[in-house]
Amino acid sequence: MDISSLYFKEHDRHIAETAQMNGQEYHSFISADYYSLNNHPEVKQAAIDAIETFGTSLSVGQFSDRSPLIKQLEQHLSDVAKMEASCIFTSCYVANYGVISILSKIDNVFFLYDQYCHSSIVSAIKSSKADCDMYVHNNMSDLAAKLDRNFGKQVIVISEGLFSADGDFVDLVGLASLKNSFDFMLYIDEAHSFLLSQSHRNVADKYPEVESDVIDLITGSLSKAMCSTGGFAVGQRKLIDKIRMSREYIFSTGITPSNIAASIACLNVLSNNDRHQKLSNNIEHFRQQAKKSGIDLGKSDTESPVFTIFPKSSCVDAYQLLLKNHILVQPLLYPAVPKEHERLRILINAAHSKEQIDCLIDSVDN
Ligand SMILES: Cc1ncc(COP(=O)(O)O)c(C=O)c1O
Repeated sequence: MDISSLYFKEHDRHIAETAQMNGQEYHSFISADYYSLNNHPEVKQAAIDAIETFGTSLSVGQFSDRSPLIKQLEQHLSDVAKMEASCIFTSCYVANYGVISILSKIDNVFFLYDQYCHSSIVSAIKSSKADCDMYVHNNMSDLAAKLDRNFGKQVIVISEGLFSADGDFVDLVGLASLKNSFDFMLYIDEAHSFLLSQSHRNVADKYPEVESDVIDLITGSLSKAMCSTGGFAVGQRKLIDKIRMSREYIFSTGITPSNIAASIACLNVLSNNDRHQKLSNNIEHFRQQAKKSGIDLGKSDTESPVFTIFPKSSCVDAYQLLLKNHILVQPLLYPAVPKEHERLRILINAAHSKEQIDCLIDSVDN
């Protein structure tokens, strides 16, 4: 199969709720810009203003010099997570590497990670050569058994906040309950879940029954709900100061001033509008229409904007049929997922119209 018929496609302009390729318009369900801010006038203006003042590149490692915008963004991110400090990396992939390289130096450390954790987490743990094991996805009894077996070690449990291949949230209630019986650090990769709660906070905000400080360390991406590029770590100041000494932080130039400004502007826009409600309405509409059409949405949680569909025909055929109907979704194929679990991934955004969602549901081969 020619990979270019599925991936690495060239787009005429930015990808949002619609996309354009070779002059043809598509309904697009592939963007993780959940609040549809990528083309927002205030966000674009902030990026332009940052270029005017600070230029197009930092041109120096942020270890030696930083723009004042970085400090502002770090403050915003710490405020969102109600934590002491944060630091910005060039991507969340790199953030996970930087964080894990520092944590792996802890004496007697043991990483226990969810089997569906992102490749950056698994690769970083493997390359750190630290002791580790994985637990069955979101399965608290398996995790409890492995915590018990590794009692006395400095255990770090790692999960994603919102699993981007299935659309289910972390079992934070289960993890909080395990924290009452076992001593471990909880590290959540919130690349997809950061800002997705009603008050645009991190995933802990979705679980009022859980103490807000149950998560010890968060990594995240600026490239999803903050429609920019970059990654970050948020946690206690002492730990963040150590993470700033990671090679991944020190030996890499920081993200561009315009990327930082765009993220700050997204956070400002979100602080005074109803985009969460629009996103929730679209998620609910998609769910209801899918249910009416007998489409199985797999593990996707009620409030998740990430959906997977397992088509009747092959995934590639189903993808190409949708493309013919001018609908763009993401095929998740082997080796990214096991062969028998190949699927189509659909990301719902705040700016999708009900008509677009209905058109997708009517066209999918389920
Ligand atoms: C859970 C998770 N972690 C990390 C990343 C990497 O994020 P970035 O694109 O900022 O490197 C992704 C990307 O989709 C992700 O889903």
